[in-house]
Amino acid sequence: MNQDKRIIVGVYHLNKKLGKHFSLEDINLQVANGEFVFLVGPSGAGKSTLLRLLYMDNMPDSGQIVVGPYISTRIKRNTVPSLRRMVGIVFQDFRLIEDRTVFENVALALKVTGAGMREIKRQVTDILTRVALYHKRYEFPPALSGGEQQRVAIARAVVNRPAVLLADEPTGNLDPTATKNVLELLFKVNAGGTAVLMATHDIDLVRSFGQRIIYLEEGRLVRDKEMIYTGDLRERIDDSRVSKRAERMKDLDITGGKGE
Ligand SMILES: Nc1ncnc2c1ncn2[C@@H]1O[C@H](COP(=O)(O)OP(=O)(O)OP(=O)(O)O)[C@@H](O)[C@H]1O
Ligand SMILES: [Mg+2]
Repeated sequence: MNQDKRIIVGVYHLNKKLGKHFSLEDINLQVANGEFVFLVGPSGAGKSTLLRLLYMDNMPDSGQIVVGPYISTRIKRNTVPSLRRMVGIVFQDFRLIEDRTVFENVALALKVTGAGMREIKRQVTDILTRVALYHKRYEFPPALSGGEQQRVAIARAVVNRPAVLLADEPTGNLDPTATKNVLELLFKVNAGGTAVLMATHDIDLVRSFGQRIIYLEEGRLVRDKEMIYTGDLRERIDDSRVSKRAERMKDLDITGGKGE
């Protein structure tokens, strides 16, 4: 499986039951190196569950997940940290360490890989500059806005230059301006070659980018709309209806729409 070197994430006949009433059922998907994919679905559809499985935080009941060289059915517990170096993850609620500075929060992600002090300083400085937060490096997370905290969380997730970034509702708690900044940042990370899988319930936010959208509903993958825009996503950000917060999941078009 996964002979194709262009495929960085593969999910094959994945089944996972959670509690009495929910299961992911026969999920199949592949993500290519450097691709940007939105994972869209209403609350409870299974988006976070699927991302956690890709992070191998949780294992499938049956079927297989392949991330780079790591295969869920063969991976050993002591290999999971190597997988995690390849896969960054960002949560809706940031999950920063509140009594560590911005700098330390990002540095910790490098420290666990055994990087030396000089290397850590260089990399953290570089990534904090790229997320436009170097001037806040000595602040503690509670002193930052939600959007700033999310940018720190993204910096922490990408400082190891992962091949894949999983972002779980990264704009869920943000106002329109912060949403735009976070999307811009994710597009920038993607332009650097990282494949990005972003979960969101906000179809209106993501529809206008012309990217591939995978729709989940009640644990099933109901539609996989191919990418129709192949350029640099950052060029599209002004066209997007970033300020529109969708309440209306009834708008969700899962019946063979024609893209834009
Ligand atoms: N540990 C668990 N035990 C039992 N059921 C669970 C567990 N974790 C999640 N679930 C159930 O699985 C379903 C899918 O949850 P999940 O968090 O993946 O949805 P989601 O698409 O991320 O939703 P949201 O948009 O609200 O974040 C939900 O019905 C949830 O109640
Ligand atoms: Mg979720």
